[in-house]
Amino acid sequence: MTDGSADIGVYGLAVMGANLALNFAEKQHMVAVSNRSSGRISQFVDEAGSLKDRIVASADPEQFVRSLKRPRSVIIMVQAGTPVDQTIEVFRPFLEPGDTVIDAGNANFLDTVQRTQGLDGTGLHFVGMGVSGGEEGARHGPSIMVGGSKESWRILKAPLQKIAADYKGEPCCDYMGPDGAGHFVKTIHNGIEYADMQMIAEIYGIFRDGFGWDAPRTSDVFEKWNEGRLNSYLIEITGKTLATTDPKSGMPLVDIILDSAGQKGTGRWSVIEAQKLGVPASVMEAAVAARSMSSRLEERVTASGVFGRLTSSSIVEAESVSVGELEAALLAGKIAAYAQGFAVLEAASQEHGWNLPLQSVAKIWRAGCIIRSAFLDEIASAFDGAERDRNLMLAPVFTDMLRDSHQSLRKVVGNAVFAGIPVPALSAALAYLDDFRRYRGTANLIQAQRDFFGAHGFRRTDEAGDFHGPW
Ligand code: 6PG
Repeated sequence: MTDGSADIGVYGLAVMGANLALNFAEKQHMVAVSNRSSGRISQFVDEAGSLKDRIVASADPEQFVRSLKRPRSVIIMVQAGTPVDQTIEVFRPFLEPGDTVIDAGNANFLDTVQRTQGLDGTGLHFVGMGVSGGEEGARHGPSIMVGGSKESWRILKAPLQKIAADYKGEPCCDYMGPDGAGHFVKTIHNGIEYADMQMIAEIYGIFRDGFGWDAPRTSDVFEKWNEGRLNSYLIEITGKTLATTDPKSGMPLVDIILDSAGQKGTGRWSVIEAQKLGVPASVMEAAVAARSMSSRLEERVTASGVFGRLTSSSIVEAESVSVGELEAALLAGKIAAYAQGFAVLEAASQEHGWNLPLQSVAKIWRAGCIIRSAFLDEIASAFDGAERDRNLMLAPVFTDMLRDSHQSLRKVVGNAVFAGIPVPALSAALAYLDDFRRYRGTANLIQAQRDFFGAHGFRRTDEAGDFHGPW
C-alpha cells in the first residue's frame, strides 16, 4: 500500500468527530475523514469552509486508510460499545503493523483493556483516549487523556497536544498510562462532573425552594460566585442557564425543563469501579442516585400526593443560612468530591499497575474539560512533593479551606434537612468529612455483630491478634 498525504484520520463525523477533524485541520494537519453514511461526508466537506483544503474525504474504508501517512493513526469517534468493535473490524484488514487505532469515545475502560488485548500480536496499537470539553472543546481545544502504548504516545503526542486546550502555555493533553488508563481517567472526570453538577443543583434547590428566589435572581449569585473561589466552567454555565428566557413562554427556561436527568453511564461506572476498589466515593454515588431518582417521574408524583409536596420556605423565613454560607458549603462539598475522585484514581492506578500521573491529571483538567476550574490548579500544586496516596483533604491548602468552610456545609445541610429540601450529595460530602476526621468510629460494633453471627473475628485495641467474643 502506498503512503497517503493525511497526518491523521477521523472516522465518525457526528458533531464530536467532525469538530475534532476541523480542529486538526485548523492546526495545520492534513486530516483524512470518513463516516458510515457517505451523505454526511459530503455535507461535512461542504461545511468545512476554508479548512476544506486540509481535508481528504473518502467513503470507502480502504481508500480512507490509504489516504494516511505511515505509521497511520485512525481516530474512531463513534457511539461507545459494539459500534467501536465493528469499526475496528472494518479497518483492520487495511492497517499494518505500527499503525494505531484510537477510540476517542466515552468507552468503559474494561472494554478498552479487552480491545487492546484483542490487537495483541498484530503489531497494531490501540489507544483509549478520553476527550472532554463537549462540542466546543472538540472544535477549539479539549482536554485529552491518552491511554495506550508508549510508542503510540510518541507518535500522537505532538498532534494531540496541538489541538488540546492550553492552560497558561501548557497543553491539556498527557499520557495517562497503558491500555485502559486514559478512559479510566475520563470516567472519573465524569464521576466528578456528576458530583459537581449535583451539588450545584442542590444549592439551586435551596435558592428556589428554601429562599423562594426566581431563576434570574439566582443567576446573579452564580455569576458573582464565578468571580471568586468557585470560579469554574460549571458555575459559569449555571449562571448563564438560569438567566436564559424561554422564547416560547417568556418564562425562565429552567422552569419549564422537565426535572428528569439523563445519564449515559460514565457516572455509574465511576461508582462501580470505586466500589470494586473499596474506595469511598459517596458524593459521586449520591449524584448518580439522584439522577436515577429524577428519572422516576411518575413515582415521585405519586409520592408527593402520599407524603405531601415540599412547600417549605423555612430557610429564608428563619434567615438561618446566608448566601456566603451557601458558597462556602459548595466549596467544602467540592473538596470532598475531588478528594474522593483522586482517591479512586490512586487506588485504580495501584490495582491495574498504571502509575497514573495524578498531578498531570489535575493539570490537564485545568482547561478544556467540563470540570475545568481555578480549583484544579490548586489540586495540581497540592501534588507537588506530596505523597500521592495522601487524601487531598490533608493537603495544607485544602485543610485550610475546609477549616473555614465545613461549618457552613454543616449549617446548609442541617437547615436543608429540616426544611425537607433534599441535599444528598452535600450530605454525603459532609458525612465523608466527619467520618474521615472521627478518631474512633463505630465499626467496632460492626465487628462485634459479624463475630456474633458468623465468628468472623475481630482485633482488639489493647493486644495484637485475632479474637472471638464470648457471645
Ligand atoms: C465531557 C462530558 C461528555 C458528555 C458526558 C455527559 O467531558 O465532555 O462529560 O463526556 O457530556 O458524557 O454524560 P451524561 O450523558 O452521562 O450526563
